[in-house]
Amino acid sequence: MDNLNKIKKDIRILGIESSCDETAAAVLINGKIRSNIIAGQDVHREYGGVVPELASRAHQQNIVPVVDVALKKAGISPRDLDAVAVTAGPGLLGSLLVGLSFAKSLALALDIPLIGVHHMQAHILAHFIYDEGQPQPEFPFLALTISGGHTQIVWVEDYFKMKILGETKDDAIGEAFDKIAQLLGLPYPGGPQIDRLAKRGNPKAFKFPVSNIENLDFSFSGLKTSVLYFLQKKLKENPEFIKENLADLAASVQHTIIKTVIEKLDKAVRLTGTKRLAIGGGVSANRGLREALESFARENDLALFIPDFSYTTDNAAMIAIAGYLKYKKGEFSPLDLIPRARWSIEE
Ligand code: KG4
Ligand code: ZN
Repeated sequence: MDNLNKIKKDIRILGIESSCDETAAAVLINGKIRSNIIAGQDVHREYGGVVPELASRAHQQNIVPVVDVALKKAGISPRDLDAVAVTAGPGLLGSLLVGLSFAKSLALALDIPLIGVHHMQAHILAHFIYDEGQPQPEFPFLALTISGGHTQIVWVEDYFKMKILGETKDDAIGEAFDKIAQLLGLPYPGGPQIDRLAKRGNPKAFKFPVSNIENLDFSFSGLKTSVLYFLQKKLKENPEFIKENLADLAASVQHTIIKTVIEKLDKAVRLTGTKRLAIGGGVSANRGLREALESFARENDLALFIPDFSYTTDNAAMIAIAGYLKYKKGEFSPLDLIPRARWSIEE
């Protein structure tokens, strides 16, 4: 069987992701997912955000079992692998180092290529994971990547030819959700909590300012500050204000964030004349945002692509598909590859 597959030239890639607080490994054979394993890190919960030192320590504990399970679930042994793809940046340096060092050792021991992957490119390339019945966007297309660490509008001309049209100047969109949720006394990560509460609240109950940046860039720190001041004032008048208005507060905050995103997308669609819009990142799970994106796409006659949730949050399947696409181009990395905390998607 092994030889037979070799004759058929199957390409088997192991993807490894450790840029933030998720240790993940995935096996991809000819672009199809065979396993996609993610170990989250609860250790950050009590701090209300990711603590870098704790993240790298947890990666060290998780990396071996996570890769082991990914290989076993895919039903292959390390010897069957054709390459190891790994996130080389951007991300937390100490966290990136764990995945990268592991991937290097594996590549060296197995004498197979190492492929360094850009985390943000991978979020977009997740749309090319082969999934039965799942359409893939044709080039060029507009991509929106929204998560706890990123907020970008990207013009995608080809797999590795991307241009940033707009990005956040301060907090990422998920960070805005999480920090405002914290002000409301909700547990971390607060994004899903706000989403859940917003369902039964009035989105017009309270009016918060939308950032007035003219171009396609985002800013969410102003919203956070205005919610803080608003709450301080209201709590002075009524200490039970948050408790009594929680659903309306969540709905109003969510409404403001969604409005910002749709306004920027509207500008980007008019600027590029695109007919295709692809979404990635954990915040794409937001129900209100999904509904808004669906009606925005309908109104503008756009094909909308939102991959399965397991491929939109931080995962290694997206790293493996980026690695597969690079493998086919013969683009490998040297074994002295260094991780990069900051790294533009355009480089
Ligand atoms: O992509 P992701 O899993 O990890 C990175 O940050 O890269 O995204 C996590 C972020 C968190 O900020 C979380 O609060 C947010 O995505 N999030 C949501 C929802 N689900 C996750 N935000 C709003 N509504 C949701 N349903
Ligand atoms: Zn990410």
